[in-house]
Amino acid sequence: MVNVAILGFGVVGSGVAEVLDTNERHIEGKVDDLIRLKYILDVRDFPDSPFAGKVVHDFSVIEQDPEVSIVVETIGGAKVALDFTRRALQAGKSVITSNKELVAEHGCELLRLAQEKGVSYLFEASVGGGIPIIRPLNQCLAANEIEEITGILNGTTNYILTRMIRAGLSFDDALREAQANGYAEQDPTADIEGHDACRKICILASLAFGRHIYPRQVPTEGITGVTLADVAYADSCGKKLKLLGRAIRRTDGKVCAYVAPHLVDRENPLSGVEDVFNAIAVRGNAIGDVMFYGRGAGKLPTASAVVADVIDAAKHRDEKKRMFWAEGGDDTAVPPDGLESRWYLRGTGVQAAEAAFPDSTRLSRPGAPADEFALVTPPMTRAALEARLTGMTPGSMFRVLD
Ligand code: HSE
Repeated sequence: MVNVAILGFGVVGSGVAEVLDTNERHIEGKVDDLIRLKYILDVRDFPDSPFAGKVVHDFSVIEQDPEVSIVVETIGGAKVALDFTRRALQAGKSVITSNKELVAEHGCELLRLAQEKGVSYLFEASVGGGIPIIRPLNQCLAANEIEEITGILNGTTNYILTRMIRAGLSFDDALREAQANGYAEQDPTADIEGHDACRKICILASLAFGRHIYPRQVPTEGITGVTLADVAYADSCGKKLKLLGRAIRRTDGKVCAYVAPHLVDRENPLSGVEDVFNAIAVRGNAIGDVMFYGRGAGKLPTASAVVADVIDAAKHRDEKKRMFWAEGGDDTAVPPDGLESRWYLRGTGVQAAEAAFPDSTRLSRPGAPADEFALVTPPMTRAALEARLTGMTPGSMFRVLD
């Protein structure tokens, strides 16, 4: 018998309990042992839940129970979750998490601690919801030098953009729908300001490039500046607006990483990734391009990834699989200042825009105000772009993914 405790009975934690319960027989067959949910830790009680009898309020009950060998941390955040994770690992228990903030900020330390204690720290659900990406990156693509990772990494923002594009919904209405579907973080600022995507690209980049890349090192722009006018202009030139997280290995070994909205051409498979779906495109020096696609948020898809890690930890109790990356330095990650791309600009000051960008492609949309311009520039760095911006006020300035 393998005893499991879940920390945090929110959307994901309750999904994990449900999947463990519903698929009990199937999981038993995979592990060749019974996986029993012994405790659920939460500050609340759940008297109407079928799992009500398992609820405890004191972490030390779990910490001190030698029968519990696997702890599922679905609390979120990097405060109490960090304390409980450290204590669970110290106590010789494997920890499984969907907590991207914790892995992005403290993954290096927690992986090292797990290694010292001979247990597992697994976080497949921390990136891409139900999409298998951590294990494939760590194992299946291990032969490759990873050159680039570009992904749609946040289900909430992709859902919002899709609803704005397809149904013409306002930003606020689309966000309300995403929250009602259980996709958004408790504080959706982390989704719409890009912090959630930032944490996820940090995890992928740390794993792929072998050194910890911290969220504070990654310039991040969310989708709050995207308007229906931008959506219309992107559509007019055969492109879709997508929030992308990118990590690109430079020839000097540093990693250029950032999160920002992009115009993505309809020919690019990332443009067809709609609703809550995520996709992660990886380029390796042997495999070339490979893409991972699936539901990036939501109760059961995320629980699916968590429970897969529980099965993995239970099956490999005596031969721990190692995931590892080294501590990062101040210069491990660099901003995309030197990265050339075409740029989409929208703003006011038509004459100034025409004078500054005679080499650009003009865009149009029905009903645009007379003083509004929108254009796509030739490839250039951000500094070169900004040097040309005198006399005009761009409302939107997004890179084009070519
Ligand atoms: N809020 C996150 C998202 C949940 O929308 O992608 C999954 O990590």
